[in-house]
Amino acid sequence: MKWNRILDISFSRTPSIYINMKLTLKVWRQKNSKAKGELESYQVEASEHMSFLEMMDVLNEQLIVEKKSPIAFDHDCREGICGSCSMTINGSPHGPQTGTTTCQLHMRKFKDGDTIVVEPWRSGVFPVVRDLTVDRSAFDRIIQSGGYISVNTGQAPDGNAIPIEKDLASNAFDAAACIGCGACVAACPNGSAMLFTAAKVSHLNQLPQGEVEKTRRTASMVAQMDKEGFGMCSNVGACEAECPKEISIEHIARMNRDYVASIFGGRKS
Ligand code: SF4
Ligand code: FES
Repeated sequence: MKWNRILDISFSRTPSIYINMKLTLKVWRQKNSKAKGELESYQVEASEHMSFLEMMDVLNEQLIVEKKSPIAFDHDCREGICGSCSMTINGSPHGPQTGTTTCQLHMRKFKDGDTIVVEPWRSGVFPVVRDLTVDRSAFDRIIQSGGYISVNTGQAPDGNAIPIEKDLASNAFDAAACIGCGACVAACPNGSAMLFTAAKVSHLNQLPQGEVEKTRRTASMVAQMDKEGFGMCSNVGACEAECPKEISIEHIARMNRDYVASIFGGRKS
C-alpha cells in the first residue's frame, strides 16, 4: 500500500476506513428526462474494502460539503436482492465482475489511479429520471400483465405438501432469482427484455400452482413486453453474460415454446 489515511465522515454510512485509492470518476449527470446530459469528472478517495455504492456515497458527501448537487442513483437493499442499483460501469451493466450487482461490487476490482465511467442503463424504454436513475416501470407493467398466480392457493402450505419434480423445482428456482434489475435490457444491442420476461414466465409456468394459467400468462406478458417497445431477441447472449443472477437464456427458449403453444391451441386457462 503506497499511502493511506483514515477517512472518517461522521454522517456517512461508511465507518472509519483506511483509504488507499485515488480515482477519477466520470459520471453521467442529467437533470431530468428532457435535459441534455453529459459526463462530469470528479476526484474521489476510496478504500479497496468499500463497495461501489459506498464509494459513491463518499463522492456524494463530498459534493454536499461543496454545496453541489449529489448524484442521484437507485439503491435499496445493498445485498443483491432488490435489483435497484442499476448503473453501467465502464460500459458493463453492474460493472466488471460477473454474477454481481453494483451494490455487491467492491473497489478491490479497480486499481489506484483508475478512471471509472458511470452511466445509467441505456435503453429507450428506460428513460433517465435524473443522473443514474432510470424509469423501469415498463417491467412493472409486464409483471402486472400476468406475473402472478390467480388461483386460490389457500393458506401458506407446508413446503413439502405439493410434490414437485426436482428438475422443475430447480429450474423454477433459478428463474425466480431474477431481481428485475434491467441489466439484460441495458446489455442487449437490441434492447430486448426477453431474459427478464422469460425468467418471470418460466418461474411460474413450471410449477403446478402456475401451470394452469401458463397459456394466458405467456401470451399476455409477451404482448405487454412488445407493447412497451423492447427490441427482439437475436440470440446475442449479452443478457445472460451481464445478468447479476446468471439467469440462463434457456428460459427464453422455454418461453418461446410456451408462446408458440399459446398461439397454436395451447391449453386454455
Ligand atoms: S434477467 Fe437478470 S439482468 Fe435481467 S432483470 Fe432479471 S436479474 Fe436483472
Ligand atoms: S441495492 Fe438491492 S440489489 Fe443492489
